[in-house]
Amino acid sequence: HLSVQERIDRKRNAALIGGGQKRIDAQHKRGKLTARERVELLLDKDSFVECDMFVEHRCSDFGMEEDHNKFAGDSVVTGQGRINGRLVYVFSQDFTVFGGSLSGAHAQKICKIMDQAMMVGAPVIGLNDSGGARIQEGVESLAGYADIFLRNVMASGVVPQISLIMGPCAGGAVYSPALTDFTFMVKDTSYLFITGPDVVKSVTNEDVTQEELGGAKTHTAVSGVAHRAFENDIDALLNLRNFFNFLPLSNQDPAPVTECHDPSDRLVPGLDTIVPFETTKAYDMLDIIQGITDEREFFEIMPNYAKNIVVGFARMNGRTVGIVGNQPKVASGCLDINSSVKGARFVRFCDAFNIPILTFVDVPGFLPGTSQEYGGIIRHGAKLLFAFAEATVPKITIITRKAYGGAYDVMSSKHLRGDVNYAWPSAEVAVMGAKVTQHTPSTQDQAKVTQHTPERRCELRLAVCRGGRDGSQGNTTHT
Ligand code: COA
Repeated sequence: HLSVQERIDRKRNAALIGGGQKRIDAQHKRGKLTARERVELLLDKDSFVECDMFVEHRCSDFGMEEDHNKFAGDSVVTGQGRINGRLVYVFSQDFTVFGGSLSGAHAQKICKIMDQAMMVGAPVIGLNDSGGARIQEGVESLAGYADIFLRNVMASGVVPQISLIMGPCAGGAVYSPALTDFTFMVKDTSYLFITGPDVVKSVTNEDVTQEELGGAKTHTAVSGVAHRAFENDIDALLNLRNFFNFLPLSNQDPAPVTECHDPSDRLVPGLDTIVPFETTKAYDMLDIIQGITDEREFFEIMPNYAKNIVVGFARMNGRTVGIVGNQPKVASGCLDINSSVKGARFVRFCDAFNIPILTFVDVPGFLPGTSQEYGGIIRHGAKLLFAFAEATVPKITIITRKAYGGAYDVMSSKHLRGDVNYAWPSAEVAVMGAKVTQHTPSTQDQAKVTQHTPERRCELRLAVCRGGRDGSQGNTTHT
């Protein structure tokens, strides 16, 4: 004979401990936080407003109808909260309840917050830690996945969507993260694959471990499925908070403007010497990028995949910019299949969310060879070209050294509606490089690139800041 309040309190307390203390301890033992601890860390203190805390699964097969198989909230925690005061919708799969597996009710909870996020215009963050489809529910569970996939697609380009993989994510479950804008992983404790090592062994006879098949290293360096990996749950969640600050809430909102303590007319003397005079000598494009961004901050996306192109977010005068740069340090910064796909997806994200794009060009051309041609470099390279050409956000391009061949066209050239296209004093634009000769630069040539006045040195940072400010009016088409 409990009062209504007592019954609610009892249910709330049950929901707060998910699958029970034993399973929580097991989760901790693996170095993982619980679903609720993750939400707490991700969001501003006390900002989480939970949704559907008492929802239970509705399965009545295999003994699931029995009380001990019912958990308040089922296997996912959902709701809304704030990151640095800005609204976000979150779902966090609870591995302590049926391994975080996706029941019909679990899927409906996720769909509900996704619908709300799209309605009000706020990003969705998914914290994934799940054994996949709830085996006891069968097709009901598959239907739930498809309901989520549809929403992922409908939300694409409308509100930013981010997935953080913090445990297993296998089978059909992988397609929701793949449809979101960014997928991050936690090293050692998370994995993503379509079929696990046992199925792989029985079908292809390959011996592969879970980590080799779908761990963070594989997906951030080999497959390109994940955009970054972090050391542990805490590191990942704090980085996610930091990353969130670059993004607008929706395609109707501007990216947040942060107070800038780094003067836009700060001199960057290093710019005079970073680019070597020799056209084939390597240098690190990151030195240029970090030289000109606020506080030298650069959140690189996919730092270990297709390293011949660099993409990521930074701020200029407090405003978010998307940066794309060929990386002469890796494969001479040439474009190939992987770098084209990586660059294209990033440019499209920036275009969808009104983030100006800064492109640093030092490209010898496309990578030749049968493996590239057979792999479809033509259609993949076209994706990058298409992305730059269709982008109507402010686009500033700086040719730091060379821009050769079709790659010159592709890399946000004037002809693809680049708004402002700069060239370094020593830059070369050509159909192909001149025949390599033992050219020793004259002292006069050297002087051209090294002796700039201080005003000249700060020009780039200033010009770029101005471009961002003037062009931040939204989605206008420049002809
Ligand atoms: N449906 C229902 N229950 C599931 C589940 C699923 N898909 N995945 C895990 N669980 C349950 C387990 O039965 C176990 O319950 P118990 O503690 O009452 O025995 C609990 O969640 C924890 O799972 P466990 O297997 O002990 O954890 P693990 O860390 O050793 O392994 C997985 C994790 C994900 C590798 C493993 O649970 C697994 O292979 N699950 C099935 C994956 C699958 O085939 N999914 C369907 C295809 S999409």
